[in-house]
Amino acid sequence: MDLFSPCTLGPVSLKNRFLKAATFEGRSPRGEVTDELISFHRVIAQGGVAMTTVAYLAVSSEGRTDRHCIELNDAARDGLTRLTKTVHAEGVAVAAQMGSRRSCWECSIERSEKPCPLIGRECDGGASS
Ligand SMILES: Cc1cc2nc3c(=O)[nH]c(=O)nc-3n(C[C@H](O)[C@H](O)[C@H](O)COP(=O)(O)O)c2cc1C
Repeated sequence: MDLFSPCTLGPVSLKNRFLKAATFEGRSPRGEVTDELISFHRVIAQGGVAMTTVAYLAVSSEGRTDRHCIELNDAARDGLTRLTKTVHAEGVAVAAQMGSRRSCWECSIERSEKPCPLIGRECDGGASS
């Protein structure tokens, strides 16, 4: 297989077979989509991959991995749209990893209604932090 040959992934056309895996970028303080995060993916796109992946986006605040995890909500919409347009302008596709973590990022135990023994209160997965 020629890794440099174009292909399709469902409805998405890819210019080659190189995809950037999700790696937490560390550029979203308190879940904000920053210019640094956008720049990170622009540089990856300029490096020649066919698709980059924005790391773990939580589908709810409870599903975040920590307080710096971006939540897929209205607050993130403009930033993620800007990121997408920036990557597309480089002729590169962009994916997003979506998740909903069930264990607490503070104590790593499965969430429950009971107070967490480590943090001494009901675990909300860091949503209130
Ligand atoms: C710093 C760092 C952050 C990562 N963040 C994520 C992540 O947010 N989501 C994920 O699914 N994998 C994450 N990974 C795992 C990578 O996507 C990848 O699966 C891993 O580095 C193994 O890649 P390899 O099989 O090419 O060696 C991360 C890895 C590293 C080193």
